[in-house]
Amino acid sequence: MKMTKTLIVKYTPRNERSSTKKMLDAFVSGIKNSEIEEIDLTKDVPDLFLEKNLAAYIHRNYLGEELDDEQKKILSKMDRMTKQLKSADVVVVAYPMNNFSMPAPVKAWFDSVMLKGETWAVKDGKYLGLMGGKKALALVSAGGMYDQGPMTSWEHALSLTKVEFQFMGYSDIRGILAGGMNAGEDTKNTNLKQSISQVRQIAQQWYSEA
Ligand SMILES: Cc1cc2nc3c(=O)[nH]c(=O)nc-3n(C[C@H](O)[C@H](O)[C@H](O)COP(=O)(O)O)c2cc1C
Repeated sequence: MKMTKTLIVKYTPRNERSSTKKMLDAFVSGIKNSEIEEIDLTKDVPDLFLEKNLAAYIHRNYLGEELDDEQKKILSKMDRMTKQLKSADVVVVAYPMNNFSMPAPVKAWFDSVMLKGETWAVKDGKYLGLMGGKKALALVSAGGMYDQGPMTSWEHALSLTKVEFQFMGYSDIRGILAGGMNAGEDTKNTNLKQSISQVRQIAQQWYSEA
């Protein structure tokens, strides 16, 4: 497959101190033959669905009505983010776990791009993802560990992200959760190193096909 565009969607407010950013940097350094576009959700903050934009969205995307200029403007940031996502063959979403799920700006980004008729639709009474043929990767870091033990069922970050990508119909969905980032230096370094090596493998696999 010829890669044309990779979209990086990042929320790493600790910048150079961020473990998530280290995983993302490892992925980016493995990208070959692909245009890279980036959206930083700490600066380009997605809208939340509130009264006016939700009404405009329902009128346009569910009821098929024409919007007036003010309503179009209200949806313009969501539309821009959706268009950006649709233009990419590969999307990488990177963020730290916050309160057992994704940080609010990341959730707002998913709410902005999961627009009916754009990234998913309903056909013959069934949901249909419209992003087939594309690849999606989630890079998440967390203070605790969720791969085994009593906390397994508390993990709603990576699992939710994968569901969102599944719903949009992505064909190849991967995810890495680097846990134990607050469990002491040794555990942190071991887990981060292992995650970074998994990240590199995915990049190598995806971009050697390009
Ligand atoms: C506001 C906030 C909420 C957090 N919530 C969780 C959580 O629910 N579970 C967890 O394991 N770690 C939690 N953490 C820890 C971070 O997920 C962890 O330290 C992560 O590796 C930080 O990523 P970064 O180095 O990329 O900033 C939280 C941290 C912050 C600042």
